Amino acid sequence: MPRVLHVAASPKGEAAYSWQVAEALLARIDPDGERLVRRLDLAPPPFPTADFAAAMIQGQTAAAAAALPALAYSEAAIRDLEATDVLTISTPMHNFTVPAALKAWLDQVVRFGRTFQSTPEGKIGLLRDRPTFIVIASGGAITPPAARQPDFVQPYLTAILDCIGIRDLRFIRAEALSRGPDAAAAGLTAARATIDAAAGDLAPGSGAAAYSAIT
Ligand SMILES: Cc1cc2nc3c(=O)[nH]c(=O)nc-3n(C[C@H](O)[C@H](O)[C@H](O)COP(=O)(O)O)c2cc1C
Repeated sequence: MPRVLHVAASPKGEAAYSWQVAEALLARIDPDGERLVRRLDLAPPPFPTADFAAAMIQGQTAAAAAALPALAYSEAAIRDLEATDVLTISTPMHNFTVPAALKAWLDQVVRFGRTFQSTPEGKIGLLRDRPTFIVIASGGAITPPAARQPDFVQPYLTAILDCIGIRDLRFIRAEALSRGPDAAAAGLTAARATIDAAAGDLAPGSGAAAYSAIT
């Protein structure tokens, strides 16, 4: 069975729209599997401190980082990722981009010398790629032509996850959820309707060796 990590970034925890859509997705691709869930509302990642910045710039390896308290959260979060075959991130849009808790988590896992290297040609990701589902919940529309606001969530997550080697991204959007109960229900239904297409080769029963390619 694949090892699934769900990083849940909404302050609303299990009541969040993004959580609900992610749960529907995970029930589809991995109904019986064990999931490692990291709820950022229950255990917020620390913001980078001066000690963190000083340690990070030295490009500490996993072994060296284990002895540094400033890198303890970072090391644990990176090990979560290393142990994961399927990554799911559920997140609301906050002020056109990711919530601060998710940005803080990314600041911990995108670590020079550990999850990416800098070269004259640019940054090179050091994590292996794996199917990654990203559920975005937004109060307004974010997909053209209905969108009346910019979306920095999808482009930002695409760029920053690419930086550490994660490129197989499958976005699921639940939009226009703050326009009353009917609109929210319609937005959730529309999002759930895209789950099969996003799951693709991972959907049980879809043929072709389901999980074997990723375990
Ligand atoms: C601080 C904050 C900022 C928000 N900014 C936006 C925004 O820029 N665009 C938008 O469409 N919705 C915005 N919203 C609304 C949320 O994206 C919306 O309520 C979403 O459904 C929340 O998802 P969740 O239930 O998964 O937390 C914001 C909500 C909060 C609390």
